Amino acid sequence: MKKVSVLFVTTTAAVCAFATAVSAYDADWKRGRIYYRSVCTSCHAAEPIGSIAPSTRAKAEWADYLKADAHAKGKDKVSRFISKAYRAEIKASNKAAEKFADVADEDLTADIAAFLMRGAKDGDEPASCN
Ligand code: HEC
Repeated sequence: MKKVSVLFVTTTAAVCAFATAVSAYDADWKRGRIYYRSVCTSCHAAEPIGSIAPSTRAKAEWADYLKADAHAKGKDKVSRFISKAYRAEIKASNKAAEKFADVADEDLTADIAAFLMRGAKDGDEPASCN
């Protein structure tokens, strides 16, 4: 009998966790990938740092990196390069920035985070090619 009730509680908890996950914004990792490659990587590739593959870091490192929001050793912020204001600045010469010009900052940030989590070295599909 005891075993049955434990199983019931576990199942209920799993269903609740799933319900919470689907009610939140459903991040679009594909959109995050397009933005990462077209905006983040296109700048890195032109800089001495070179392109930065998502698979060079673990999920936790990417999560900390986005949370710290200190880009280029703290010289500026990652959030600036994701913002609508930045997209507006570069959209004349950057197709992805133009295409996603009106996406909310929070949504695009979640999309990029989803791509980085997926492409991290311990992610579901490590992305070596940026
Ligand atoms: C306008 C150019 C430019 C854009 C756009 C850009 N970066 Fe960077 N990024 C740099 C430069 C330059 C460095 C190297 C800074 C250094 O080493 O001093 C860098 C470094 C990094 C690093 C290495 C760690 C660090 O902060 O030094 C990560 C990770 C990174 N960028 C992530 C991103 C992400 C994610 C985006 C897009 C949302 C992005 N960058 C957009 C220029 C850019």
